[in-house]
Amino acid sequence: MSQGLKRGLTHYGDPDFSRYLRYSFAKSMGYSGKLLARPVVGIAYPSSGFNNCHRHFPELLEAVKRGVLAAGGLPLEFSTISLGEVFLNPTSLMFRNLMSMDVEEMIRAQPMDSVVLMGGCDKTVPAQLMGAASAGLPAVQLVAGPMMTGSHRGERLGACTDCRRFWAQFRAGTLSKTEIDGIEDRLAVTAGTCPVMGTASTMACLAETLGITLPGTAAIPAVHADRLRAAEATGELAVQLTENGITPDRLITPRSIENALRVLLALGGSTNAIIHLTAIAGRLGVKISLQTLNRLSDATPVLVNLKPTGSHYMENFFAAGGVGAVLQELKPLLHLDCPTITGQTLGERLGQASEFVDRSIIHPFDKPVESVGGLVALFGSLAPQGAILKRSAADQRLFEQKGRAVVFTSLEDLSNRIDDPGLEVTENDFLVLQNAGPRSGTGMPESGYLPIPSKLSKAGVQDMVRISDARMSGTAFGTVVLHVTPEAATGGPLGLVRNGDEIELSVKNRRLELLVPDETLSRRRTEAVNVSASQSIDASRGYAKLYMEHVLQADEGCDFDFLKSP
Ligand code: FES
Repeated sequence: MSQGLKRGLTHYGDPDFSRYLRYSFAKSMGYSGKLLARPVVGIAYPSSGFNNCHRHFPELLEAVKRGVLAAGGLPLEFSTISLGEVFLNPTSLMFRNLMSMDVEEMIRAQPMDSVVLMGGCDKTVPAQLMGAASAGLPAVQLVAGPMMTGSHRGERLGACTDCRRFWAQFRAGTLSKTEIDGIEDRLAVTAGTCPVMGTASTMACLAETLGITLPGTAAIPAVHADRLRAAEATGELAVQLTENGITPDRLITPRSIENALRVLLALGGSTNAIIHLTAIAGRLGVKISLQTLNRLSDATPVLVNLKPTGSHYMENFFAAGGVGAVLQELKPLLHLDCPTITGQTLGERLGQASEFVDRSIIHPFDKPVESVGGLVALFGSLAPQGAILKRSAADQRLFEQKGRAVVFTSLEDLSNRIDDPGLEVTENDFLVLQNAGPRSGTGMPESGYLPIPSKLSKAGVQDMVRISDARMSGTAFGTVVLHVTPEAATGGPLGLVRNGDEIELSVKNRRLELLVPDETLSRRRTEAVNVSASQSIDASRGYAKLYMEHVLQADEGCDFDFLKSP
């Protein structure tokens, strides 16, 4: 097969003419014939003025290129869609599959022998791994790295666990407008991804566990000089990949996915990671079952003391030993024969124990933060295909109980009524949000973390059981049951819940039951419910139409049916 710029010629009906034209145009960029004869390393480059997390990418790109050039390759970056979490309407998740298609198609269409995937902000790494898995070219991930923390009146701040804490205080009236405005300036103070174990950090750690990043690179802060050295080394490795051809399907296997699930549980990582990992694995025909998650969760302790489940930040995690130290603790539970991008197996990587581990942040296996894993799947009449609870970030006193449903039929209904002083709600009720799943027309927002009704938060209530088909930010916390599947908008039982219904939650038994007779539910199925559509996407054309017609449920990773491997 042709290499470098000779690969995949543009069709003009005359291959020699295509080659001649390509080289003359490549030479117009000032490259010498000698450089153009080298193996080509593509660099997927999602830099954007709408993505604060990637604002250091120009410098990082230079370091990757340096590594490629030094190792004898030709680095050529190509811009792709960039997904800046807080700049996208309705949600970044809706565009993850679009970015994955962009990455896949551009890897396939352009002449490169391997690819470096530069990503970081929440959905970018999953999108790149999905796209690269489908494209099948040797690929190595380089993550942005986390931000550094800020400080406000002597207190450390990090987006976005602290954003939520302070916002809850502001809603409860214990924080003034002047103070919340001051905090706004100090929550996100450097380039890089959110500095807690949110979705971006979780996905970075899982990418390292899958073996598709260089070892030891997931947690390096974005602004640390080590991050630039990691970028240079990644560029160098990408040139080796043009020779040894380690493709994503050799790294992402049922065994490495099980390792990643173990690490996800030990990190107390983001609930979103289950959706992303399922989608990435699904591109290669590897299925993740939520029953497997429960089996692993019972036997995998939480080892990492990081926000939102604990008290520290990613810069501490890096200094404490990072992913390598967590893998060392989990070693007896891991499949050590899994290959990694360097050519070593995971077992070989872990041959030498970490030199230093800060045990206040990464706990030893026999003295864990929690004895069981951070996430658990629930099943029952309210969630026949499952729902997710991040038990490590929830109030255990709420785990075994029955509650009366207080139902919101849409995001709009929620925002209109949640703070209504006349809302009939007590702290023992279960707040239920419907029509916020993948096909609801809202893009499955991170609104599963329903705010505590202000009359209760002012009375000091900090947590309640909340149930929805939405997602939750990886940086959030609370007794929040998410991803209820099937979702309300496709006829799932969640849509049949009415105010006053009794719901039973049992985390111990992994159950979520709607205690309403079948005849009543059958009758309700025939009743029309007035759901506000004002926040829905216009699915009559374009990408929104494609999304609404093809997006799968949460238990299938919210990928498109035609992108998943059979
Ligand atoms: Fe980009 Fe949090 S906003 S990772």
